[in-house]
Amino acid sequence: MEGKREEFLWGAATSAHQVEGNNIHNDWWAWEKKQPLTMRSGLAADSYKRWREDLALAKQLGHTAYRFSLEWSRIELAPEKWNREAIEHYRQMLLEVRRLGLKSFVTLHHFTNPLWFARRGGWLLHDSPELFARYVRFVAQQLGDLVDFWVTINEPNVYAGKSFWEGTWPPQGKRFEEMARVMNKMVKAHRQAYRIIHAAVPGASVGAANHMIACGHKKVGFSWHALRQWMFNHWFLWRTRGTHDFIGVNYYFPCGQTKTDGQKSDMGWPLYAPGLTDVLVEAKRYGVPVYVTENGLADADDSRRADFIRSHLRAVEAAQRAGVDVRGYLHWSLLDNFEWSDGFAPRFGLVEVDFATQERRVRPSARVYQAIIEGARRR
Ligand code: BGC
Repeated sequence: MEGKREEFLWGAATSAHQVEGNNIHNDWWAWEKKQPLTMRSGLAADSYKRWREDLALAKQLGHTAYRFSLEWSRIELAPEKWNREAIEHYRQMLLEVRRLGLKSFVTLHHFTNPLWFARRGGWLLHDSPELFARYVRFVAQQLGDLVDFWVTINEPNVYAGKSFWEGTWPPQGKRFEEMARVMNKMVKAHRQAYRIIHAAVPGASVGAANHMIACGHKKVGFSWHALRQWMFNHWFLWRTRGTHDFIGVNYYFPCGQTKTDGQKSDMGWPLYAPGLTDVLVEAKRYGVPVYVTENGLADADDSRRADFIRSHLRAVEAAQRAGVDVRGYLHWSLLDNFEWSDGFAPRFGLVEVDFATQERRVRPSARVYQAIIEGARRR
């Protein structure tokens, strides 16, 4: 990568509910119990037990950073009932990340909520930001010395959209007003979390992970489509401007009408690398460094992943040439995992997981990514 080469971070991302297994105290687990067996997270990738092996794999694959999330429902079992065992678990993980020489990106909220919080009304609650803030304060005090980058909330737009408007994720709300309310609560929650973390950890680096869809930026003038697009990519970022030490960009696909070469992932998502340049350029307007906090595809036979990585890294370089201060790339995902309401069928991992035996097998594309990383770090 160009420019600040020595600082550029390379790695992969996961989230707690998708890999840990047995997250029995959150709203997803409760919801899954009412779904068909194929939509239950169960043991997931059993990473709550196998995390040392997983971190060792990241290290072996040449990674220099790892993004993972803390499971709020494990840490706060009931209001203000803190679970020392869970905090100690994450502490050990962070110590190992550090010992291996990796930088940590720690997500505080990645789609799941403690059941007690969800039962009280979850993110629709008037004091949901304060309840979240209490958890953030506890975590910042307990783990603040070990975290390199804080990601307060993962994809507020996707969470609010799927859970409160589209109705496909728990609690399956279907009202625009509810989605807007949740977005506003998350704006407030992020702002508070930003202040709390900075107060507890001097010099902390705090951001959020934003799902951005690429629609190009050539058109000028007003259209409903453009407004909708702006709302999706920028509502949260704009309302929280000034409280990001970096912008995290999660990029997967372009808008419907974008002309692509027809290649698709196993989930039918069009593959379009130039879109990553577009969204990174969009993120530049906030005036802080940018990290790609997620980018990847479902590709069970690993036939497209290597090319996908190459082309998307070229797109990162193009953004750097266009003046965007991009400082890292985290592939989604390190491991095959529980893909929410799509269950275990989509395979996003650089490392394949056999869910019957929990055996890990490095996919060839992970080696390609490793060679790119090693090449770039030698330059
Ligand atoms: C989410 C991940 C998810 C990935 C692939 C992102 O929107 O943050 O949890 O697995 O997309 O769908």
